Amino acid sequence: MNRKIKNSATRIRKAVIPAAGLGTRFLPATKALPKEMLPIVDIPTIQYIVEEAVESGIEEILIITNSTKHVMENHFDKNYELEERLKASGKMKQLEQIDEIANLANIFYIRQKEPKGLGDAILCAKSFIGDEPFAVLLGDDVVVNEGGKAALKQLIDQYEETRASIVGVQTVDKKDVSKYGIVAPSQSHPASGRLVKLSDMVEKPATDQAPSQMAVLGRYVLNPEIFELLETQGRGAGNEIQLTDAIKRLMDRQAVYAYDFEGIRYDVGDKFGFIKATIDFSLKREDLKDKVQEYINTLVTK
Ligand code: G1P
Repeated sequence: MNRKIKNSATRIRKAVIPAAGLGTRFLPATKALPKEMLPIVDIPTIQYIVEEAVESGIEEILIITNSTKHVMENHFDKNYELEERLKASGKMKQLEQIDEIANLANIFYIRQKEPKGLGDAILCAKSFIGDEPFAVLLGDDVVVNEGGKAALKQLIDQYEETRASIVGVQTVDKKDVSKYGIVAPSQSHPASGRLVKLSDMVEKPATDQAPSQMAVLGRYVLNPEIFELLETQGRGAGNEIQLTDAIKRLMDRQAVYAYDFEGIRYDVGDKFGFIKATIDFSLKREDLKDKVQEYINTLVTK
C-alpha cells in the first residue's frame, strides 16, 4: 500500500515546455508568428513536442508563453466554426485530425513576464509542478526515434531506476560546443551504458574550455528541489538566468545524471536544421515521398 502511494507521488506526470522565446533566429517569419507554429511539412513544431510528451506518459503540460503567443493556444483548442464547416463539406479526415489535436493532453499556459532566460521560464512552473519530479522539453529540439522509445520516455525510464535528475545528451562536433549546455562526467563513477553520473555542467563554454562534447539537447527530468535553486539563481551566460547553472548547483545536494538518448535530433530553431527536418519528414510521408525524392534526384543530376 505504502509502496503504491510512493510510486504515484514520484511518477513523472507533468511536463513543462518553455515557448516564450523571441525566435530571433527566424525573423522575419517570427515577427508576428510564434516560432513554435512554424510547420515541418504541415504540423507545427510545438505539436511534435506535445506528442512526444504524451507518448512518454505525460498527462499535464504547462506551456510557458508570452503575450504574442495566442495562436499557439488556439492550435490546441477546439475550433467549432472550422469543425462545422469541415462537417458540412464532408471533409471527415481533416475533421478528425483537428479534433485529435484538441484532445491530445491537458495543456495549461502561463506567461513569462520578461525574457530573462530558460531558468526563469522554468521557475514560472513552480506552483503548477508542486513537489513532484517533472519533465522539461525544449521546442527547438525535435527528436525522432523510429521504432524505438521517445527521447523523453528514455529519460523517464532512467529516472524510475535512479530517482535522480537526468539531462538528455548527445555528442556534438567540437566546433558546436559553445551553442549548448555541456556536461562533465564524474571521474569517480564509470558510465553504465548510456547513463553517466555528472560532476559539472557549463552553459555555452568556449570551445577550448568545454569539459566534453556531450551537449544537453532539450530533454530533462528534474527533481522539484531545482525550484529553490532557480529562485536564487543569478544571471549567467548571455546575461540570462540559466537552467544549466541551477542544475550544476543541484549536484552539490544530490546526484545528477546524463543519458545519451537514442534518436535523430533536429535543431528546428536553426534554419538549416529546419530544412533538414522538412526534407527528412517529407521523405517519410506516403503522400509526398515519391515526389520529393524525384525532385531531389533532379537537383543532384543537374
Ligand atoms: C538551451 C539550453 C542549453 C541547451 C540547448 C539545447 O539553450 O540553455 O543548455 O544545450 O537549449 O537545445 P538555447 O538554445 O535556448 O540558447
